[in-house]
Amino acid sequence: MPWRYPIFDLDYGEEERRAVIEVIQSGWITQGPKTLEYEEKLASCFGVKYALATSSGTTALHLAYLAAGIHPGMKVIVPSLTFVATVTPLLWIGARPLFADIHSLKYPNISPESVEKLAPEADAIVFVHYAGFPDFIQDILEIARKYNLILIEDASHAIGTKINGKFAGTFGQVSAFSTFSNKNLSTGEGGFILTNDKKIFKKAKLLRSHGMTTTSYSKFSGNHPLYDVVEIGFNYRITEIHAALGIVQLEKLEQKNEKRQELVKKYRNKLKDLEGLIIPFENFGNSANYIFPVVMPETTDREKVIDKMAEAGIQTSIHYPPIHKFTAFLRLFGDIELPITEEYARRTLTLPLYPSLNPQDIAYITDAFKRSIH
Ligand SMILES: Cc1ncc(COP(=O)(O)O)c(C=O)c1O
Repeated sequence: MPWRYPIFDLDYGEEERRAVIEVIQSGWITQGPKTLEYEEKLASCFGVKYALATSSGTTALHLAYLAAGIHPGMKVIVPSLTFVATVTPLLWIGARPLFADIHSLKYPNISPESVEKLAPEADAIVFVHYAGFPDFIQDILEIARKYNLILIEDASHAIGTKINGKFAGTFGQVSAFSTFSNKNLSTGEGGFILTNDKKIFKKAKLLRSHGMTTTSYSKFSGNHPLYDVVEIGFNYRITEIHAALGIVQLEKLEQKNEKRQELVKKYRNKLKDLEGLIIPFENFGNSANYIFPVVMPETTDREKVIDKMAEAGIQTSIHYPPIHKFTAFLRLFGDIELPITEEYARRTLTLPLYPSLNPQDIAYITDAFKRSIH
């Protein structure tokens, strides 16, 4: 590996190895009993009626949007400061994204003011808990109620985030999560949706596997081979190997999130006196702390900092280049202005964060960062 400190480092152990071997030895590797067990554990852990595991966060979002009733021509409020996959499934459906600006450099979630401006012409809102922080979800929920909008959460960054005892991903009609390799709950590729709405769950479940009224495992288990196709669906199934990894990772989630919280506290202490530096959000205690982004002083040359950090063996990243400025989006929607998102995106830099870091590592990284900024 070229980095002394990569942006993320996978922390699998003997439990994950054993879980994968068990699945292989069972002889059944596509969606089956492990997936069901994983889904039951997800629903119980997050306190919802239904969980549905999928092949990725992107496919979870696509299913969540369709099952919640997003259809061609609908207008959906979204952030631009997110991974592009929050928005692409809306375009596949033929819905139109309405980009909302973030609140501020300090609170980079979509702002209630920006959302309320767009709400009268919108049909739905997608809320992303950026970096794991739920700030404004309650206000956005109230706006959704006031204007009768569908609320969907992309909680990919917020696996385990809690707001007054209630998990991120349980505020809207449905939520989607990614369990991509660098996420707090990591299965390599994978995702899931959570909902309390039986209709949403049933529709998403049908769409996940070609709209078929049966599954391969059901037929293998002795049920009748004949089936009907009642929806035009997809193959968004997860494998038993990924589900087994998910079960092990779910058991480790709380402890690993606590470790992330300790590391973020260290980071914040070390960087708090750096002039002009903004560390987004305050209450890192209720965040899953998926990443640790900072906002550089206004006059800092970010490219130089990235290079200097690389010289010290530290990988940095940018979360995110704003979606509305991507070539494909400019082509579709023209030049939209989101001044706060754009300034944030110009100045932000993400430092390494993963549970196996220790306080000495944070000291090394923050020292190198301070030197790089000067
Ligand atoms: C906010 C957000 N939404 C959606 C996705 C897409 O998830 P996946 O890569 O599992 O398809 C990601 C993944 O990085 C993400 O960070």
